[in-house]
Amino acid sequence: MTTPDSAWTNLKKAAVAARDPIAGLFAIETDRLEKLVVEAAGLRIDLSKQPWSLGDFDTALTLAKVCDVEGARNRLWAGEPVNISENRAALHMALRAPDGADFKADGVLVSREVEATRNAMRAFAEAVRSGAKAGATGKPFKAIVHIGIGGSDLGPRLIWEALRPLNPEIELRFAANVDPSETALALAGLDPAETLVVVVSKTFTTQETLANAEVVRAWLRAALGPASDSHLVAVSAAPAVAQAFGVPADQVFGFWDWVGGRYSIWSAVGLSCAIGLGYDVFQRLLDGGAEMDHHFRHTPLLLNAPVLLALAHIFNRDGLDRPLRAVIPYAARLRLFPSFLQQLEMESNGKRVDQQGRPVAHATAASVFGDAGTNGQHAFFQMLHQGTDVIPVDFVAVAKAGEGEPVNHTILLANVIAQAQALMTGRSEADVREELTAKGLTPAEIDILAPQRTFPGDRPSSFILMDALTPEALGALIVLHEHKVFVEGVLWGINSFDQWGVELGKSLATRILAELQGGASGVHDPSTAALVARLK
Ligand code: F6P
Repeated sequence: MTTPDSAWTNLKKAAVAARDPIAGLFAIETDRLEKLVVEAAGLRIDLSKQPWSLGDFDTALTLAKVCDVEGARNRLWAGEPVNISENRAALHMALRAPDGADFKADGVLVSREVEATRNAMRAFAEAVRSGAKAGATGKPFKAIVHIGIGGSDLGPRLIWEALRPLNPEIELRFAANVDPSETALALAGLDPAETLVVVVSKTFTTQETLANAEVVRAWLRAALGPASDSHLVAVSAAPAVAQAFGVPADQVFGFWDWVGGRYSIWSAVGLSCAIGLGYDVFQRLLDGGAEMDHHFRHTPLLLNAPVLLALAHIFNRDGLDRPLRAVIPYAARLRLFPSFLQQLEMESNGKRVDQQGRPVAHATAASVFGDAGTNGQHAFFQMLHQGTDVIPVDFVAVAKAGEGEPVNHTILLANVIAQAQALMTGRSEADVREELTAKGLTPAEIDILAPQRTFPGDRPSSFILMDALTPEALGALIVLHEHKVFVEGVLWGINSFDQWGVELGKSLATRILAELQGGASGVHDPSTAALVARLK
């Protein structure tokens, strides 16, 4: 009988066993495309350029089966406390489920509260957009400053940039970093009388967010006096703390401890976007997410897009010991997708012990990096093609042009297809030598140049294609990755929903801040002590 341990052993053995180059597998496996291209919630996900044979793919599927991904998925949906170190459910699916759903967190029905919050968001968004909710001087709001960091920033920022109108009626600015330049830039040129400030913090204790909120509240008060507190909106799972900060009670939007920060864009954390884009657009984002939820929940493992994406990652990460992954959206509007994924993947799965506190048996999350294509081609693609490490790539492409010149969109598409092809097929040294010979180079020159112009190829990639960059497609893309991360966490035996690794730096920063502000010197290692002394 296959056990999780033996399934892992089989996967690792399969990955390192001698095999044909990826490009060669298509001739041997005539049904390769049929098996390794799946459609889900309007996305086409092509995993045929991954380094697995179809036999390896079956081995990976067996791993998912025996590690009981299906059972874990049931427990997630049932609202069991899958985040066991914090004894919480992780029910972000409830936030995007259609009205009438019956999600329960730890046995308690949450769907009605979710719907009530969505209705309140819609009403508020529409009131701001129509001018019915105006500023303290009666002027309608023309700008929103969204203050938050991590999960309270990356999702809203991504969504705004991906979907924002060319000439928005209401402009969104973001302030995440505590660097005072960030708030200065966010506020530059804005009229306080026309600016709504949305402070987003699940805990309402995050140092950077509170510091920035103080700065922006002072900016409002300096211009408009105490009445400007009506320009403050808060989104938090600690609504009482937000009210204590001075946010009017009817402008505090709640969410719940069963919503992880990096899974929270579907909650009132998306309020700024719902106002800026219009609630109907936000709803379409939720609908796209819900469609991917449905796919993940009900599709057998072998056709299940998040499961297959996770298995491809694990095949590279654990089978082939590849600690990096590049994510390249060929869409300027998706430029921030890699940074969104950095939190989603690395905060969720950058863990070294399992749910019981034991060292993990397998390497966990790869480091994610990336930028929009084609920009990345002129920056770090050299390394993807010819560096000493093989770095798997996930390409994201959009079939139809949005705004702008359609010819340029075709150029964009040609590039993304070509890059995936070039990584896989490479270019042999023999081919390069032939070309250089034809150009009349001497044998000595060719000996030097040919290896430099050779592309090893056999470098894997996934290719995610959406028809158009719609709110639904973006919602589906994000949820595809949320569930991919969940499946990986199940296979690695880790908790994808906590983040203890962020705590130590936070508490040390609090102590060092006191020292920098004139408090007594603490006990530090010599390097830290010297830095504190230098900056005091
Ligand atoms: O420090 C990490 C973190 O806790 C993230 O998980 C979270 O998204 C971010 O900080 C912001 O937290 P909050 O929404 O509570 O301000």
